[in-house]
Amino acid sequence: MKWIGLLGERFGHLCYTGFAPSLRAASRRLPPSLLRFNEAFVLSTLATEMKVPSSIDPDIVVRIATLSDLDSIVRISGWDTQRATDQLRSNAVCFMASAGAAGPAALTWLAFGSCYIRGMAFHHDFPPGDMYGFGTICLPEFRGRGLYLALNAAVVKYARENGLGRIWVLVESTNERSLSLRGRLGFVPQLRVGFVSILGLRSCHVHDLRGGGSSSRFVIRQPGGNVTVV
Ligand SMILES: CC(C)(COP(=O)(O)OP(=O)(O)OC[C@H]1O[C@@H](n2cnc3c(N)ncnc32)[C@H](O)[C@@H]1OP(=O)(O)O)[C@@H](O)C(=O)NCCC(=O)NCCS
Repeated sequence: MKWIGLLGERFGHLCYTGFAPSLRAASRRLPPSLLRFNEAFVLSTLATEMKVPSSIDPDIVVRIATLSDLDSIVRISGWDTQRATDQLRSNAVCFMASAGAAGPAALTWLAFGSCYIRGMAFHHDFPPGDMYGFGTICLPEFRGRGLYLALNAAVVKYARENGLGRIWVLVESTNERSLSLRGRLGFVPQLRVGFVSILGLRSCHVHDLRGGGSSSRFVIRQPGGNVTVV
């Protein structure tokens, strides 16, 4: 299997150095079954240092979701029921926010430990006590009312109560609004992750922005065991 690792390393190096701009352009024109190319940043901050506003609209209620909230999760996230059920049954925690009498309208998730981010074929072991935040979304008609900020304030409270440390998030490099919102909350880019799939052959490239070098590998199949797939 060593040669697969070596090939993955070389393939990734080529894709993310010399060929990245051409792959990015080609992926906009070709069908995803032929070519997919995606780039994202992994950002982090200490949860207790997250810059959430001191006052959150008292009409907004945030609570942790259970299996009885499945319909709301499917409605807000757009996921299918199976994916939402699997996620609720994993070690991930889902926070839901509602404004006034309206039902839940925004949500965010936290996962822990070994996580596999399927959209980027990115497998990462988050240190004990750290959190991986994902699936943050607010229904379009409820945006701009502070639900996102309330969710983040609830995450800060949860981290304090449970003695948790750093929170990590992955944001696609084209999602400028999300990058800017995360920046305002105090998140700092730590890794740049690249994903390329050519005729179904998938590779993930990770570049440590803190000066820790780069690595690439082929991803043959989704990892099993104790890995939380998000
Ligand atoms: C990103 C998203 C979740 C934001 O949801 P939202 O409920 O509309 O956001 P909120 O109303 O709580 O907060 C946004 C506002 O708070 C302000 N704000 C952000 N961080 C702040 C901070 N730390 N302190 C004070 N104000 C802040 C922003 O200026 C923003 O105001 P603006 O709309 O005038 O720019 C929503 O747009 C969405 O679902 N997008 C699609 C999915 C997505 O991109 N998810 C990734 C999210 S990281």
